[in-house]
Amino acid sequence: MDKFGHFDDASREYVITRPDTPWPWINYMGTEDFFSLISNTAGGYCFCRDAKFRRILRYRYNGVPMDAGGRYYYIKDDDTVWNPGWKPCKTALDFYECRHGMGYTRITGEKDGLRAEVTFFVPIGHRCEVHKVMLTNSGKEKKQFKLYSFAEWCLWNASTDMENFQRNLSTGEVEIEGSTIYHKTEYRERRDHYAFFGVNRPFDGFDTDRETFIGMYNGFEAPQQVLAGTSGNTRAHGWSPIASHRFDLELNPGESTELVFVLGYVENPQEEKFIAPGVINKKRALAMLEAFSTVEKADKAFAELKAFWDNLLGRFNVSSDVPELDRTVNIWNQYQCMITFFFSRSASYFESGIGRGMGFRDSNQDLAGIVHMIPDRARQRIIDIASTQFPDGGCYHQYQPLTKRGNNDIGGGFNDDPLWLIFGTVAYIRETGDFGILNEPVPFDNKPGTEVSLLEHLKISFRHVTDNLGPHGLPLIGRADWNDCLNLNCFSWNPDDSFQTTENKTEGTKAESLMIAGLFVAQGRDFAELLERIGDKDADGVKVAVKTMENAVKQHGWDGEWFLRAYDYYGNKIGSKECEEGKIFIESQGWCTMARIGADEGLCDKALDSTVKLLECEQGIVLNTPAYSKYIYEYGEISSYPEGYKENAGIFCHNNPWVIIGEAMAGRRDDVWRHYCKITPAFTKDKTLRKVEPYVFCQMVAGKDAAKPGEGKNSWLTGTAAWTWKAVSESILGIKPQFDGLLVDPCIPLQHGTYHVLRKFRDAEYHLEIKYTGKKGGYYIPYKPGVQKLTVEL
Ligand code: BGC
Ligand code: NOJ
Repeated sequence: MDKFGHFDDASREYVITRPDTPWPWINYMGTEDFFSLISNTAGGYCFCRDAKFRRILRYRYNGVPMDAGGRYYYIKDDDTVWNPGWKPCKTALDFYECRHGMGYTRITGEKDGLRAEVTFFVPIGHRCEVHKVMLTNSGKEKKQFKLYSFAEWCLWNASTDMENFQRNLSTGEVEIEGSTIYHKTEYRERRDHYAFFGVNRPFDGFDTDRETFIGMYNGFEAPQQVLAGTSGNTRAHGWSPIASHRFDLELNPGESTELVFVLGYVENPQEEKFIAPGVINKKRALAMLEAFSTVEKADKAFAELKAFWDNLLGRFNVSSDVPELDRTVNIWNQYQCMITFFFSRSASYFESGIGRGMGFRDSNQDLAGIVHMIPDRARQRIIDIASTQFPDGGCYHQYQPLTKRGNNDIGGGFNDDPLWLIFGTVAYIRETGDFGILNEPVPFDNKPGTEVSLLEHLKISFRHVTDNLGPHGLPLIGRADWNDCLNLNCFSWNPDDSFQTTENKTEGTKAESLMIAGLFVAQGRDFAELLERIGDKDADGVKVAVKTMENAVKQHGWDGEWFLRAYDYYGNKIGSKECEEGKIFIESQGWCTMARIGADEGLCDKALDSTVKLLECEQGIVLNTPAYSKYIYEYGEISSYPEGYKENAGIFCHNNPWVIIGEAMAGRRDDVWRHYCKITPAFTKDKTLRKVEPYVFCQMVAGKDAAKPGEGKNSWLTGTAAWTWKAVSESILGIKPQFDGLLVDPCIPLQHGTYHVLRKFRDAEYHLEIKYTGKKGGYYIPYKPGVQKLTVEL
C-alpha cells in the first residue's frame, strides 16, 4: 500500500485512496471516436474525434488551482455541500476512493452516512459519457438531501473558446426539453452537431446559465444555487452556457437510488437539422438517452466495455515470478499503448488538445504497441498516414484526425519521418501476415489520382534517405530527427520563433544524423527481408545501401568509445569526446546497437558500456551528458531547456527501450533488466517522487543534472508506451513476431527465466512454458492456426 493508492490487478484497476495526489492522476475513456479525460477528482473534458475542433466540455489548462472544471456532482446534505470526488468543494470526506480501470473510472465518496458512487464510462458504439450515480443511505437516520449535476460547455473550438471573447460571449445557445439540456451554440449556422446532458428521471430544477448557477464572484467550489439548495431554472443566452440538474431526494437507512446521466454528442445531416425554426432535431439524442434509460441498460453497456478490454488484453499474458512485470505487461502497458494510439500526442494533462494532431513518426511507432490487439485499425492507420506522404518521400510532420490531411503546423522536413512508415508497416505485417496491404493504392498528399501501392511508398521512404546524404555519406538531418529539439539548421535568435516552424536551411548544410543512420540500417534490414519474402528484386539494392551506410557509420560515426550523435551545419561533431558538453547521446547508441553496426569489431559492446558508464543514472538513462548549460545557436531547442529536463539530459523514457533492445541483442541480461526496472513505474519504490500517475509511463523523468531529479512529466501520451512494450514483449520475454511465425528469444535474468506466456497470434493461440537458461539463437515456431501448448527450453 502506497501513500496515495495501490494496484488491484484482479480488477485491472489502480485504486487511489486519497484525493490530494501530487498531480491529478487521470484516466481515459473511449474506444472509437468519442473520448474523455478524467482525473481522480472528476476533472477533465471530452470531445468527439478532434480535441481541438469538437471539444464538448470546457477545460482550463492554466487554471488555479489546476484541474478545475469537469463533470461534477454536488450533494447538499443539510448545511454541508460535498462532492464524491472531493473537488471542487474539498469538504473532508469520511471515505474516498477512485478506481481507474480499463476505459472507466469509478469515484466513491461518503459523508455523514451518505455514500455516492459515480461510475463514469464511454460505452462502445455511442458517442457519450455515461455517469451512473448510486446514492446510498449508509447511516441510521432518514436522509433528505439534494443532488446537483454540473458540466460547462466548451464552444466547440477549444482554441477560439479561449481567445475570441468578443464573439463567444454572445453566441451561446441551449434548449431544455424533458430532463435534458441541449447545447447548440453555432448550430443555427454551419455546425451540424450539438451536445446534451440528460438523465433518466425528471428533475426538480435546472440551470444553464453559469453566472446564475455559480454566482458572479464564486468559484466551482461554492455554486450559489447549491449553497442555497435552489436552482435558477435559467436559459442561457450567450455568456457561458452550462448544464446542471437538481434532484430533491430522500433515502431511508440502507436504501439506495441510482440515476443514469448521459453526456452525449450528436451529428445530424444538414437536411435533418431542425424540426421547427430554431428547434433542433433531437431524434438521435433521444435514441441515445433511451439506450441508457435504465440502470440495467447502463450495466449491460458497462459489461460490454469490460468484455471489450478483456478480449484485447487477453491476447498477450505473462505469468512470471515478478508481479510488477506481470502487472505492467498484462494490464497497464498494453492499456497505455491503446490510449496512445487513439490520442497520438494530442490531449493529456500536458498536451492541450489544441496544438498537435497525429504525428507521422509518433503514429507509426504507436502501431508497435497495438497491432496485436487491433490489427484492422492498425491497417487503416497505416493507410491514413501513408496518404499524407509527398511523392519524394518527404512527410508532413502531422495530420489532423478530423480531416486526415497533413499540415505543417508543427513544422516539416524531419528526415527520420519517412523511415517510420517502414517500421510501422513491417510491424503490422509481421503480426498479421497481411502482405496484401502492400498492394493497397495510396495517394500522395491525399490527392486523388496520385495513387501508387503502399509498397511503392515504402520504397520511396527508403530512397528519401539515400537521396539526402551529407558529406560523410550519412543521412542529412533536416529540421531535426527523432529528437525534435536538435535543430541543426534552424538558427534563431528571435524568442518569438518556434523551433519547430522557423526557417530550416537546406542549402549548404552539412548536418548529418547518426540516429537516422542507425534507424536506416535497422529498418533497411527488415525492409530487405520483407522484399525477399515477397520476391521483390529491389531487395539486393536495399542490402547494398544498408552495407554502404554501415561503412559510413563505422568510418565517420564512431568516436572511439561510442557512436557520435551528429554533424552540425558546419560539419562539426556533436556527441563526441571532443565536445565540451553533450559528449555522448543516447539515440545513436540505441539505434546503432539495435542495428548491430560494427558488432563484430566490438563497437556495440563498447557503446553500451559507455552508455551505462556515462548516461545511466538512478532513475534511468539520460538523453545526453554533460547537459548543455547555455543556449547554443547552432543546436536550437535542445539547449533551450534547463539542465536535466526534456531533451537536454532528461531521462527520455521513449528511447531507454532502444538501449534495452540493443542490450538484449548483445545478450547483456542484467543490463537489460536494470534499465527496464528503472523506467517502469510499477517497480519504482518511491511512488510520489515522480508526481505523475504510478500506473503509466511518462515521457520524461528529470535527469541527474536537474534541480529535481526523478520528477516525471508528460505522462500517458508517449512513444515510451509502444517502445517499452516492444522491449518487454519481444526482447525481454522474447516473443518476436516474424513474417511466418514466432521466434522465442528471451533476454531476462536467469533467476526469472521460467515463465508462461499466452500469446494469440493471428488465428493461433500459443500457450508457452518458457525455460530460459541463457542459450542464444531462439526457438522458432512456424505459424499454424489453432491452440498449441509448448514447452520451450533454451
Ligand atoms: C518538445 C519535444 C516535442 C516537440 C514537439 C518540443 O518542445 O521538447 O519533446 O517533440 O516540442 O512539438
Ligand atoms: C515527443 C514527440 O512527440 C516525438 O515525436 C519526438 O520524437 C520526441 N518528443 C523527442 O523530441
